[in-house]
Amino acid sequence: MMPDAETLWASLPLPALVIGADDRIEEANSAAEQFMNASLRALRGQPVWDRLLVDAPLDGAFRRVREARALLFVNDVDVTAGDRPPFHCSLQIAPLGDDSGKVLLTITSHEIADRLEKSHSVKSAAKSAIGMAEMLAHEIKNPLAGIAGAAQLLSMGLSGDDLELTDLIVEETRRIVKLLEQVEQFGNLRPPQRKVVNIHDLLDRARRSAMVGFAAHMTIVEDYDPSLPPTWADPDQMLQVFLNLLKNAAEAAPGGGTIRLRTYYDLSIRLRRTDGGGMALPLVVEIIDDGPGLPPAIAADIFEPFVSGRENGTGLGLALVSKIVSDHEGWIGVDSVPGRTVFRISLPVAPKAALTEEESV
Ligand SMILES: Nc1ncnc2c1ncn2[C@@H]1O[C@H](COP(=O)(O)OP(=O)(O)OP(=O)(O)O)[C@@H](O)[C@H]1O
Ligand SMILES: [Mg+2]
Repeated sequence: MMPDAETLWASLPLPALVIGADDRIEEANSAAEQFMNASLRALRGQPVWDRLLVDAPLDGAFRRVREARALLFVNDVDVTAGDRPPFHCSLQIAPLGDDSGKVLLTITSHEIADRLEKSHSVKSAAKSAIGMAEMLAHEIKNPLAGIAGAAQLLSMGLSGDDLELTDLIVEETRRIVKLLEQVEQFGNLRPPQRKVVNIHDLLDRARRSAMVGFAAHMTIVEDYDPSLPPTWADPDQMLQVFLNLLKNAAEAAPGGGTIRLRTYYDLSIRLRRTDGGGMALPLVVEIIDDGPGLPPAIAADIFEPFVSGRENGTGLGLALVSKIVSDHEGWIGVDSVPGRTVFRISLPVAPKAALTEEESV
């Protein structure tokens, strides 16, 4: 005989929650009570994202599930419940069969210790790789300057094929120096000096400099929400972010294509932080291209340093982008299929106090 629903619910070994139409917790099974280290009594009526802190903006997720009446899987997020260290989890969100607007949220946590350690070691490996590269960059630049100088001296007495060879030496050493400088720049990134910034001004500067340089073969169209309030950012660093993204889009489509710069306001995007604070990131910038899309083999790792799908790429562009965006407490994500790649950055609005201060200057 089939056990009754209550028994099933209580014995389900997976943390499961029923979330009401107002995004508050209505039911939690015992696995969920354990996972969240709180009793059902304490959990009931609480906004779910106050009890589960997820390192991805998920506030709109339930709405989407309700509206589309479809499942949503969120893979590989860090979830913090109570005052424990974050767990590496996947979330499954399903609409309930009735029309109540309730949704079922289940949590599968991955082999916790194992995974945490792994992601930790990957991060510190990346860090020491960068440290190593920085050191090498510094050490290699001096002898390189010597090599280039010697080749230039040699070239003065040469002509024809021989001259071509010394030119090659000079040119290639320049290329290496440039690459090394990029590595050094990555290591030297200072904390952002944030001020009130109009995103459209920055996008405009990025667009103009792209059009006269690396993106001359592209069409760039603007699709701005003119009412977008200013953000709180280091203008130079944010410009660098937009330039890197435009450059990638342009490099992905050597035969030309269209890049769309889109901005809009979306209050449903919040970043839940492990310190318990929540922060609205309503300013959204999308850089959309119609190129071939991310190479599938590296798609999951493009934000890691030294991951590149291009022959001459250092793979530092997106690592820098993601570092800058996270230094700004923002969020970056990517959706990519052949023909449409969207890099989406969510940023906070400039604080009110800074706005009035700036105006009174
Ligand atoms: N818009 C895009 N379309 C297709 N592939 C992309 C796009 N943006 C990034 N990629 C892929 O992601 C890889 C990593 O990008 P990233 O900017 O980090 O490094 P890179 O461009 O290879 O080198 P660098 O920026 O340091 O010169 C790229 O090599 C490319 O394969
Ligand atoms: Mg790049």
